[in-house]
Amino acid sequence: MAFLDTIKERAKANKKTIVLPESMDKRTFAAAEQILKEGLANLIIIGTPEEIAENGAGYDISGATIVDPFNDPNKQKYVDKFVELRSKKGVTPEIAAKTMEDDYMYYACLMCKCGDADGAVSGACHSTGNTIRPALQLLKTKPGISSVSGYFLMEVPNCDLGENGLFVFADCAVNTDFDAPKLAEIAELSAESFKMLVGKEPKVAMLSYSSKGSAAHADVTKVADAVKLVKEKCPDLAVDGELQLDAALVESVGQSKAPGSPVAGKANTLVFPSLEAGNIGYKLVQRLAKAEAYGPVLQGLSMPVNDLSRGCFAEDIVGVVAITAVQAQL
Ligand code: ACO
Repeated sequence: MAFLDTIKERAKANKKTIVLPESMDKRTFAAAEQILKEGLANLIIIGTPEEIAENGAGYDISGATIVDPFNDPNKQKYVDKFVELRSKKGVTPEIAAKTMEDDYMYYACLMCKCGDADGAVSGACHSTGNTIRPALQLLKTKPGISSVSGYFLMEVPNCDLGENGLFVFADCAVNTDFDAPKLAEIAELSAESFKMLVGKEPKVAMLSYSSKGSAAHADVTKVADAVKLVKEKCPDLAVDGELQLDAALVESVGQSKAPGSPVAGKANTLVFPSLEAGNIGYKLVQRLAKAEAYGPVLQGLSMPVNDLSRGCFAEDIVGVVAITAVQAQL
């Protein structure tokens, strides 16, 4: 079964409630119709009657709950929660109400925080920063986690590398500055994400332009230090580095550059040394190898909130909603 089909089956088996705040975009409604038809999730769409009428015309979204952010009987509860969480940052009831009306992603995150939704998906017409900032501010990280990061589940066609062409690539979306402890945390979270979505043992390669000391530079030392930290914290995890990409993926190269490594030549979880490398790397594979790229999926948040590419199709929104619903089951 293709990766997304298995995720859809899991989403259907224990249906969760996902909120979609982008009623200003027709793709939201095309996706909502399909999600409801396939029974992947219960949906809440945030929008005014005018937005719903204008952008939802022609789509059957009769199974969705529509929440008008200007006339919602629950709104005061969300305003109160917003003030409770952010009064120290200067948020008053007036600022809270205005922020939620101006930016429905804040509304969506407060619905999650108050237990009225299990997760949220946005980003078809908002930048990554604007999509995830409300979640970082309101939902915060899981206990014990210092940073949220973003991965792509890559499905490469006709590929026998990784897990038959399935990989997690991280961090491709969030952290602009990495030190060794942050890189180590990203590796640990990415391993958990691979296991959760693919159901197989992760083999984590921490990537560099050097393999096992073949080059000397502070950037290489940072990756090697991160590998040590992950090995100390997760002694049972198959993790290795620093490794060049070919050593991570190709058996013969792995054997020659990192003999005896439990990961070299078999990696299925690729941890990039910088956001530039991760973001450019996933797009190269997506465009040149015609891979499916699901995400960016956020890891380390207290509740599942996921971003979309602004170039996404309705079908991509369906896939990310299914992944979000599965994350919400855990
Ligand atoms: N994990 C957890 N919390 C975080 C993180 C993180 N990685 N980053 C910021 N925060 C928290 C801060 O602690 C702060 O909390 P507070 O307000 O309670 O004190 C809050 O989020 C806002 O932090 P700022 O530093 O003010 O955040 P800012 O809005 O400047 O930036 C952001 C955060 C949006 C994640 C930024 O790092 C960013 O823009 N990253 C790059 C996003 C991007 O453009 N990615 C590439 C495109 S994605 C693609 O191609 C699909």
